[in-house]
Order: sequence, then C-alpha cells, then structure tokens
Amino acid sequence: MKEIVLSHDEIVQICTRLAKELEERFKNSNTIPVFVGVLKGACPFFMELIKHYSLPMKTDFIQVSSYDGTSSTGVIHLKQDISIDIRNKDVVLIEDIIDTGLTLSYLKQYIEIKYNPKSVTVVTLIDKKPLRRVDFKCDHVGVTLNENKFLVGFGFDYKEVLRNVDYVYVPSKKEIAELDKLISKDSKM
Ligand code: IMP
Ligand code: MG
Repeated sequence: MKEIVLSHDEIVQICTRLAKELEERFKNSNTIPVFVGVLKGACPFFMELIKHYSLPMKTDFIQVSSYDGTSSTGVIHLKQDISIDIRNKDVVLIEDIIDTGLTLSYLKQYIEIKYNPKSVTVVTLIDKKPLRRVDFKCDHVGVTLNENKFLVGFGFDYKEVLRNVDYVYVPSKKEIAELDKLISKDSKM
C-alpha cells in the first residue's frame, strides 16, 4: 500500500479553494496579475490551479534548482528567467513545496529587486515545516506538512522521475532502490 499524502481529488479541492482566494485578492485590481510558475515541480499544480481561476490573468515561468536527489543543497541557481514585463504588476509566484524556504525567499527577493512589481503573492501546494532555514511567509498554502517526508508525484520528482503521477505520495525504500537501478542503467545508454 502506497503512503498517499494528497489524492488527486484532494489536490483538485485545494486548487479550487486557492483559486477562489486569489480571485478575492485580485477582483478589484486595475491590472492583470501574472502567475509565475516555478519550473519544473510546480507545473502540474500551476495548470490545475489556473483552471479554477476565472478572472483575466497571464502566465509565465521561472526555473531554479537546489535539490540533489532527496535533499536540498541550499545553493540556488537561476536557470531561466521570466519573459513578461511585470513592472508595476501583481505577481503570483506559484511553487510546489516550501521546504528550507531558501528557494522562495531567494525568488521573491530576486523578482522584487530586479523588476519592481506592484506586489508579489506567494502560493504553495505544500508547506513542509521541519527543515525551514529561513523565516518565510507564504500567502496561500494548500496543506501544511509537519513531518519531514520526501514526496513524489504531481510534479515532485526523485532524480527527475515520477513527476507525472497525478497524486502525491511517499516512495518506499524498495521503490527508490528500483528507480536507482533503472536510472543508473538509463544513464549508461
Ligand atoms: P526549499 O528551497 O528547500 O524550500 O525547497 C524547495 C524545492 O525543493 C521545491 O521547489 C522542490 O523542487 C524541492 N523539494 C522540497 N521537498 C521536496 C520533496 O519532498 N520532494 C521533491 N522535491 C522537493
Ligand atoms: Mg520546485
């Protein structure tokens, strides 16, 4: 039996609620908000969330990396920047998970300093609390996780694999060992 943390139905419910919260936030705004997804992990969450948001919005993406296998390296690399002009616009930064907090605090600061937007609102599907290294406030949270579990599925990867599963779960040691074998074989092809 898999240890499921979020079923697909739960994810859809969460996205519906978060989209309504964002509609409340922007319904009286005189500018069009730009939703910026953090590649690659936030993609499935981003796509599900925007389906339930019914006001005008624009989409963009930014890519960073900090994870190596199952833990954060603490060093953040910007791999791809946004492409839309967000000066004086409301930015909604959409991330799959906040763990140490380093990625989101870096990204929020980077966007604020470089582009001077009207606002930056941060949304995360999962707020994983135990390994927080910087105090970071997320404006909209899907669910809070108080245990330090390594998750896969719905955008969460183990060495780039398993992002395509449509729910979030904790992989077993056996599954990780089998994947390691497959990945090692694949890298030699
Ligand atoms: P932070 O900088 O430590 O807050 O980490 C944020 C990033 O680490 C996320 O965008 C994910 O890509 C990755 N991450 C954190 N926890 C997990 C996990 O449980 N599974 C897969 N990736 C994770
Ligand atoms: Mg991520």
